[in-house]
Amino acid sequence: MIDEQSASRTGRRERLQEEQYDFPYHYIPVLRGNDYSQTQYYPWGHRYLGRLQIVFEILDGLPFRSLVDVGCGDGRFLRDVDRRYSGRTLLGIDLSARAIAWARGMNPNLAFEERDITAAPLEGEHDVVTLLDVIEHVPPASLPALLAAAAVALRPDGHLIITVPSTRMPLDAKHYQHFDRHTLDALLAGTFSDRRYIPFDGKRLLPWLLWAAMGGSGRHYVVTSRLVSNLLMRCYRRWSLHDTQESRCQRLACVARRACA
Ligand SMILES: C[S@@+](CC[C@H](N)C(=O)[O-])C[C@H]1O[C@@H](n2cnc3c(N)ncnc32)[C@H](O)[C@@H]1O
Repeated sequence: MIDEQSASRTGRRERLQEEQYDFPYHYIPVLRGNDYSQTQYYPWGHRYLGRLQIVFEILDGLPFRSLVDVGCGDGRFLRDVDRRYSGRTLLGIDLSARAIAWARGMNPNLAFEERDITAAPLEGEHDVVTLLDVIEHVPPASLPALLAAAAVALRPDGHLIITVPSTRMPLDAKHYQHFDRHTLDALLAGTFSDRRYIPFDGKRLLPWLLWAAMGGSGRHYVVTSRLVSNLLMRCYRRWSLHDTQESRCQRLACVARRACA
């Protein structure tokens, strides 16, 4: 057993606390009336992590010292960037005060800023700007201004990375539009050169069946077995993530270089 003073002196108490609260798990169980749940389920988790993998595969090929994640939401991507590439200058930006509060709460050591980048462009000489699953939420008329603001934040020759749902995915109420490489290309052509497109997240039978067997969208039951979860992730990465058949791919990534003036 350790006493209070020596625990504090060694920093062990702080470390214990930080390790425990990598995720605030006390928020998981809920009781609403007689309705009790001790699980929260994110049915698209494997696809979200797959998207991070695609972006990291792009970033691995780009030497960068600084990165700005525009529309950073809760900051999860920036946290993983920090863990994977130490010593870089990182900034997350979002117009939502709530998203920034979450991002700061979950990542007290990282920098986040509440800002609408279209209304208040961030001038900078950054190496990379990311727009991950952001532009489908932006009205089409505002997209040129958003992409121009992304360019302003980049140094000449700096890289923009975008991920979007592809037109293969049905449009839902939260999105203004989905994209294929031609519509995205038309938007980027004026400002960005060397545009490269990476379709991913193919809709394949085996991973889909496993996902459905695990409870699908999570309405009926959740399988918490590590064995089954790992099988889903392995099959997803094996069959879906880098699907070579573009017509099956539900997502599209793009990396492009800011053209020199
Ligand atoms: C669907 S979320 C994506 C969050 C995160 N990139 C991810 O993939 O998990 C889109 C985010 O973009 C932000 N956003 C949209 N337009 C923006 C703008 N002009 N400036 C800054 N953030 C913006 C929204 O507030 C929202 O948090």
